[in-house]
Amino acid sequence: MIRLHNVSKTYALKGRRGSARTVQALKNIDFHVPAGQVHGVIGLSGAGKSTLIRCINLLERPTTGSVSVDGQELTGLSRQALNQARHRIGMIFQHFNLLTNRTVFANVALPLELMGMQRAEIRERVTPLLELVGLADKTRQYPAQLSGGQKQRVAIARALASRPKVLLCDEATSALDPQTTGSILALLRDINHKLGLTILLITHEMEVVKSICHRVSLISDGELVEEADVGDFFTAPRTQLGREFLNDFLQLEPPRALFERLKATPGERTHPVVRLAFSGDAVSTPLISRLARECGVDVSILQAKVESIQERTLGLMIAELMGPPAKTREAIDYLEAHDLHVEVLGHVQRDD
Ligand SMILES: Nc1ncnc2c1ncn2[C@@H]1O[C@H](COP(=O)(O)OP(=O)(O)OP(=O)(O)O)[C@@H](O)[C@H]1O
Ligand SMILES: [Mg+2]
Repeated sequence: MIRLHNVSKTYALKGRRGSARTVQALKNIDFHVPAGQVHGVIGLSGAGKSTLIRCINLLERPTTGSVSVDGQELTGLSRQALNQARHRIGMIFQHFNLLTNRTVFANVALPLELMGMQRAEIRERVTPLLELVGLADKTRQYPAQLSGGQKQRVAIARALASRPKVLLCDEATSALDPQTTGSILALLRDINHKLGLTILLITHEMEVVKSICHRVSLISDGELVEEADVGDFFTAPRTQLGREFLNDFLQLEPPRALFERLKATPGERTHPVVRLAFSGDAVSTPLISRLARECGVDVSILQAKVESIQERTLGLMIAELMGPPAKTREAIDYLEAHDLHVEVLGHVQRDD
């Protein structure tokens, strides 16, 4: 449904004395979101998330590469054809971007007026949309009379007015409190189900990815560095940045005091400290007690957490494996053979 091929974007910045500097905000992005998916793009501030999403409806023109939505290549279109194509792409923003001097109804009606639609037809289209977003009783209010969550609902209804196939969300919940965020995400999930709308959302919050995305891409310094199904990303991110996002989200970091002790050089008198991630069957198997029995390794659990990600249960643990090096290596092999993801965080000196 959304396809980017080799997209790069370079911004030219003019210096004070006519000097020119460039910022390469996107580098050779290849990207595909199939119809009906909710796809998240996550990255740090300045990574290029907004640039990426704005390149999809050509609010920003890519410097190189091609963009197609619903099978139509957009970069080569005339202005008029592009305007038509944009009806199939809705967008919502962090700060809602409503017109303050128009009522809720008139804000949602605006794109339809611009398309030249007749008043009766506009009413027929807008009324059910306001019901869908839960604002049927607010049609005559002005944006200033609404809460942040209600404003975003108006923006969602406006984005849906032209019956788009794709909804682009640029940090749509970043200005909202956690509870309101939850209700807006529930609405987006509902729209994805009911209307089959393909949703691309960018965010710096793992919570958003966890609660509504099927798949996620990680962007860093203009490059897509990792892409995975959400369950896989939360179990075993493949990049350092992915692990940092996950650890921040889970707040599962080795205690600071342990961190200091983790610096021992591996040897006969050290124990490995590991981060274990397990999902599915592994969650319910008594692996830790078996480890003691079958490998002769004792496990000291330093931190543990169980999360529910979509329909999957995900367990995470930081543990010290206590035993001679040959045994602890065997234990790690054993855990990996049982589909646990094992990362050795470091080694600590044995006390005995
Ligand atoms: N219109 C512009 N002109 C020049 N440089 C820009 C422009 N827009 C973005 N940039 C630069 O491009 C890079 C990517 O910016 P972008 O806004 O896409 O990041 P972002 O991931 O959305 O960040 P944030 O999370 O802070 O919104 C940054 O270095 C930024 O300074
Ligand atoms: Mg941004």
